[in-house]
Amino acid sequence: DIDVVLSPAVLAPEALKGRRVVMVDVLRASTTIATALASGARAVIPATDTGEAGRLAANLDPDFSLLGGERDGKPVAGFGAGNSPAEYGPEAVQGKTVVLTTTNGTRALAKAKAGIEVAVGGFVNAARAARFLAEGLERGEPGTILCAGWHGRVSLEDTLCAGLLVSRVVTAAQASGLTDSSKMAYALYQGSRDDIERALRSTEHARRLIALDFGDDITRCAQIDTLDVLPVQHDGRITASGA
Ligand code: MLT
Repeated sequence: DIDVVLSPAVLAPEALKGRRVVMVDVLRASTTIATALASGARAVIPATDTGEAGRLAANLDPDFSLLGGERDGKPVAGFGAGNSPAEYGPEAVQGKTVVLTTTNGTRALAKAKAGIEVAVGGFVNAARAARFLAEGLERGEPGTILCAGWHGRVSLEDTLCAGLLVSRVVTAAQASGLTDSSKMAYALYQGSRDDIERALRSTEHARRLIALDFGDDITRCAQIDTLDVLPVQHDGRITASGA
């Protein structure tokens, strides 16, 4: 089966046991991680707080690493980059290891470790994330889409993307057998699928990003299937599957 967890705050202990997990943080951690790996970064190391991120980066060669992240959307003083996908092009990250800490996404990734396989999904790499879930189902491994949300709250943009992934993995007939949260995500996506960017721009976090002058990031995060990359997390490192 395919379940959707709308926020890590409602993740029951043991809920990810034996399951494939796709962590979704559309605005912007998932999109940034997928962009960095598609741009040739060797790996992204997620850190839950800025202190840990600084310590991890201090152990890396400064010529081949980049310390990035944000708190509540804002760049962190002393870091080499924020959390705009636009900052993670090949000129910035090719051949480098990125240490990344974000307000919600990298924390959700820490919780996702309880799954048997963990990937990162957004609109930009939805096809790859959906295939990862579908392959799991073929092997008898149920899937969970873990939405990062915002400080324990539910995010419309992550729920929408979860709905897209559900719609790619199940047929319309199978949708009646989904969990309530999966049905909610699926229905939300069906109602907004004709204009995803408009739906993203209507969200709380989009308003926050626009106020911080990151409105262009929303357009980038709303692109569907533009990146043929599946970020997978093993032993605290995220790399491109198959790389
Ligand atoms: C997060 O992890 O909360 C987000 O990626 C925040 C952002 O940078 O937009």
